[in-house]
Amino acid sequence: MSSSTAELSTIPLLVLRSALSPSRSDPPIRRAPSHIRGQRLVDAHGRTITDLRISVTDRCNFRCVYCMDPSTQFARAEDLLSVADFARVARIASTLGVRKVRLTGGEPTLHPRLCEIIAAIRHGCAAEIAMISNGSLVTRERLRAWRDAGLGRMTFSIDSLRPDRFTQITRSTCTPEDVLRAIELAIDEGLGRVKVNAVLIKGINDDEAADLADLARRFDIEMRFIEYMPLDSARAWDSSRWVPASETRRAIEKRHALVPCDGDDPSSTARTFEFADGAPGRVGFIAPVSTPFCGACSRLRLTADGMIRPCLFSQDEWDLRSVLRAGASDEEVAEFLTDAAWNKQAGHGIDSPDFHQPERTMSAIGG
Ligand code: GTP
Ligand code: 5AD
Ligand code: SF4
Repeated sequence: MSSSTAELSTIPLLVLRSALSPSRSDPPIRRAPSHIRGQRLVDAHGRTITDLRISVTDRCNFRCVYCMDPSTQFARAEDLLSVADFARVARIASTLGVRKVRLTGGEPTLHPRLCEIIAAIRHGCAAEIAMISNGSLVTRERLRAWRDAGLGRMTFSIDSLRPDRFTQITRSTCTPEDVLRAIELAIDEGLGRVKVNAVLIKGINDDEAADLADLARRFDIEMRFIEYMPLDSARAWDSSRWVPASETRRAIEKRHALVPCDGDDPSSTARTFEFADGAPGRVGFIAPVSTPFCGACSRLRLTADGMIRPCLFSQDEWDLRSVLRAGASDEEVAEFLTDAAWNKQAGHGIDSPDFHQPERTMSAIGG
């Protein structure tokens, strides 16, 4: 069957679950065309999926204001995928073209069996393994164990260098110094080119752009500024609190001129810059709201409770957990994944009047 004749059908084994309204009857789903189904992760908009982001836990020891409300309810233990499930999905996804597996959370370092997850994924596939962390629970011993198990790269987040503000934003007992120490340790342990993310919010930390950019020069890392997205559990996002990447860039350039880097991968989230004065490090801007990069998106997401989300902003999820627990074969799981990818939406639609924030927040999807 060609892509244009892909059937609109309900596939018995596959359960499409609406996160927004679980009682809604399952909408019909489009099968991937037969020459792709179970073979390659491609969507109906011509994009190829090479990046699987696995949220290993929805729990976090922070309660960042732009992410997780203190009243957040976590998934039930019995609904969480096992180490073997994560590794199996990564292995099957790699046979379908996935080249990078990123472990996210919540806070992935809270998972008691994180090392086993990394090792099991490494054992089953050749994909590069990266992880994002808030840095609060990082020690040299843990970094070594993760690296030796197969972790290749780390990304951290730090939204303020000022202890009082850091507390206000993260609502945690961690300090900026703790995160800076984690960054230094990861560099020292050879965990790739370390990247660090910050989310600026108007009136809270938007005056720290240049200070945070200086971390790139200090540590020779990539310091990235992510535009605040409507994925917070308090649903407090509004455009008056959002800081466009252009504004952040102007603030940084008041201190250091920036030069665009050549060769950014079009599917990557960030557009990167070097310092014009030749200082080490890079600055990146992740601008999903002002400059959407959905057209080149290569990402598919697996949540800790086993749902496949083709997009951060998907309204519908694909219940892979039920498929795994029903005893599906590798071929059936591969077909499930290719169908889910085929149904990936064209874009997030944040600027559309019909936009609805997904029920799941960033912490339960995985950044
Ligand atoms: P590497 O190149 O492997 O380091 O990964 P990356 O460039 O994908 O960056 P990373 O995984 O650190 O993602 C950076 C941030 O970009 C995430 O934490 C999210 O906030 C945001 N992000 C990642 N993927 C998407 C996406 O598909 N859509 C949108 N809107 N934002 C995304
Ligand atoms: N908007 C933008 N980035 C966010 N993150 C979490 N919530 C949001 C949001 N609403 C980022 C974190 C971290 C990564 C997991 O996602 O700062 O870097
Ligand atoms: Fe935790 Fe990350 Fe969400 Fe902050 S952004 S509450 S560190 S999951």
